[in-house]
Amino acid sequence: MVATFVPFCSNFTLKLGRRNRPLILAALCKNQRGANLKCCGVARPQILPSALGEDDGLRVFVLSDLHTDYEENMNWIHSLSSVKYRDDVLLVAGDVAETISNFVSTMASLKDRFERVFFVPGNHDLWCRREGDIYLDSLEKMSKLLDACRALGIDTNPTILNGLGIVPLFSWYHESFDREVDIQDIRIPSLEMVCKDFHACKWPGDLSNEGTSLALFFDAMNEKNHTMIEKIQRTCSQIVTFSHFVPRLELCPEKRMLFYPRLPKIIGSDYLEDRVRSIHGSKETTSACHVFGHTHFCWDLVIDGIRYVQAPLAYPRERKRRMNGGEHWLPFCIYSKGRFAHKLTPCYWSDYYAANPRSPHNTQLAPWVAKFYKRK
Ligand SMILES: [Fe+2]
Repeated sequence: MVATFVPFCSNFTLKLGRRNRPLILAALCKNQRGANLKCCGVARPQILPSALGEDDGLRVFVLSDLHTDYEENMNWIHSLSSVKYRDDVLLVAGDVAETISNFVSTMASLKDRFERVFFVPGNHDLWCRREGDIYLDSLEKMSKLLDACRALGIDTNPTILNGLGIVPLFSWYHESFDREVDIQDIRIPSLEMVCKDFHACKWPGDLSNEGTSLALFFDAMNEKNHTMIEKIQRTCSQIVTFSHFVPRLELCPEKRMLFYPRLPKIIGSDYLEDRVRSIHGSKETTSACHVFGHTHFCWDLVIDGIRYVQAPLAYPRERKRRMNGGEHWLPFCIYSKGRFAHKLTPCYWSDYYAANPRSPHNTQLAPWVAKFYKRK
């Protein structure tokens, strides 16, 4: 396993120059049998694409964090085969684009390629900063995005396809999701300084970045699908749920590993995890899967019986560093031949946490983080 770390996505203004580029963590450069892997520079192994045959029945692919405001990312979407996926399903786990024109262009292109496309909004999708005052607030923009989805034939509601339950889940993060010990003794920029959501999203008066109002509001949006979700629970032995935000803190590297150690305060929701658990119930690991996005780290890990997967396209600069093992494994096929696919491999950070216990009380900065803050 080879692991590296780059700062979180451009939600955040903390930037790394060439001299500050992330170091490879030598401690992580051993595989589970303890063998050293080549870990210098950017010689990281590619993630293997899913092995697919011609007659796999229903196939479900997943992808998050498309960020097609970047021309390279839009080109990547347009370069997807218009033949290979014509009978397939794609789950898009948020952060498609910042402008509605790029959003529509992206989703139309995907709908041309896939038989069915499902979508939940991410934080970037609800930014209002580039399109003047055409939206009253981020909720009005979300309403416009959902209207656009309806017009394009994109699904945003739960459905059963060939016996597989597919459940999109609305969500937003709240600061109290982070319950681990904070890093002290270094000057870490505030959330307001670093997280663009605080400035690019606009909320009506009763909703606020502080507290849990946004997380509760978005979670409550899922209630309208209560009847369909109950039907899915009754009739489907396999269910895939998906959201943009992170349902569990264990799905993010620990603070001492992060260039922005406050990151866990702006990524996830306890209400989301409660909802995921309530939907999957006591299903076995092989039948319960949740797909998420937002942090741009590919991830594939089973926790308490549910498999959690992230397959982000992420930013061009992150792909250039091969942060997630290249891009040729995307979109990732999570389901075919009537079962969930084999684990993503290699999957840097989740492989690390599969082999090493989480120790959040250790607040000694990882070498690359310590070096970064010392330089600053
Ligand atoms: Fe993103």
